[in-house]
Amino acid sequence: MTHPTPIAREIQPSGPLTGRVRVPGDKSISHRSLMLSALAVGTSRIEGLLEGEDVLATAAAMRAMGATISRSDDAVWSVQGVGVGGLLQPATALEMGNSGTSTRLLMGLVASHPITATFIGDASLSKRPMGRVITPLSQMGADITSSPGGRLPLMLRGICPAIPITYTLPVASAQVKSAVLLAGLNTPGITRVIEPVATRDHSERMLRGFGAIVTVEASPQGRIIEITGEAKLKPQQIVVPGDPSSAAFLVVAATIVPGSDVVVENVGLNPTRAGLFTALRLMGASIEEQNPREVGGEPVADLRVRHAALTGIEIPPDLAPSMIDEYPVLFVAAAFATGRTIARGADELRVKESDRIAAMAAALGAAGARVEEVEDGMIIDGTGGDPLPGDATIATLLDHRIAMSMAVAALHCRKGNAGGAITLDDASPVATSYPAFFDQIAQLQSGGA
Ligand code: S3P
Repeated sequence: MTHPTPIAREIQPSGPLTGRVRVPGDKSISHRSLMLSALAVGTSRIEGLLEGEDVLATAAAMRAMGATISRSDDAVWSVQGVGVGGLLQPATALEMGNSGTSTRLLMGLVASHPITATFIGDASLSKRPMGRVITPLSQMGADITSSPGGRLPLMLRGICPAIPITYTLPVASAQVKSAVLLAGLNTPGITRVIEPVATRDHSERMLRGFGAIVTVEASPQGRIIEITGEAKLKPQQIVVPGDPSSAAFLVVAATIVPGSDVVVENVGLNPTRAGLFTALRLMGASIEEQNPREVGGEPVADLRVRHAALTGIEIPPDLAPSMIDEYPVLFVAAAFATGRTIARGADELRVKESDRIAAMAAALGAAGARVEEVEDGMIIDGTGGDPLPGDATIATLLDHRIAMSMAVAALHCRKGNAGGAITLDDASPVATSYPAFFDQIAQLQSGGA
């Protein structure tokens, strides 16, 4: 895929952020809502779907494989499913854009259907490892021809019936777990995934919600998740909670910019996703949960965040899976803390939309932060709350979270004639997960409600 023309964007240091904003729908839950609705028999309705490029890639792929998907003017999505086993052969290659979640989960779905699909993506996605899903899906009988190194473009010939397997995850990855469970949906018998380290559990929760038989059991080897195949999924009315990974940028922005007092509404607080808020609180952040409730079977609250002085800590490595997408913005928070933050045990960051350890070390270093890149994370000596020098151009590397993290860092750089502004060489990747990001920051800068 050719990526749209880069859009450079300059971000100036900011005054206090105040007011309320509502974060958009959760990306992981949005993908799964579309996929499972497309496999149900009947029509599901989805409210609060994230309308970012990644999720739209999933919608387009499900349409290409037979689902009927439409959106009303008030942003409610309707999906008429084809039933488990009913996916059709797509007429052309599935364009995955920047989205690893679309690719890996859809590979799982296609693997146990008697169809062949070709997966293509942008330059970032085409560098990412797919071997981690190719291995288990091949064991289930799928025939996969990838580009060298197990990368996209790849062609996957599914098989029906596929073979149920027991698979122990070699990396802590919800995408790999989900790919195997989704393949198991149309596979006779029981497909089992053992995850030594718990990862986000949206697939398990939602598969159950749609009527599949899914059991989860704790064992000395880790969580054992079993799905009974040849499931019949029932259509659902889904309300997608707000994305904690998107809220993370606003929470860190309000924490580091002096004088800020912000309420971020509708934040999903599933414990497998909320590690950043735990880490920030350990560093001294002021994050108050208001109006706790349940949305779409997930715990949700509004977060009131006030500016606070942060102290560097050693980030507990066992938090890593529950904040894996939030490390880039945690590095930003640490850059303004007093003392040293050690964030390790996050090797998976190297295979995200970019190598997020190298990308953030380069970006924060260019903005004047004191950072040391280590193999599995970063060591950061903070400014003690002072602004960073800024005055840098940042390579965002087709990675939305690098772009948004450095946009947040830019808000607390030195003001005045000496510059201070941070320029993102390309802000367009933000549209993959959080199209309203810059507007919501502007809203908080003007104290918007
Ligand atoms: C996701 C899982 C995580 C995460 C990604 C979304 C998911 O990836 O980084 O943004 O929806 O299952 P890994 O499974 O590669 O850790």
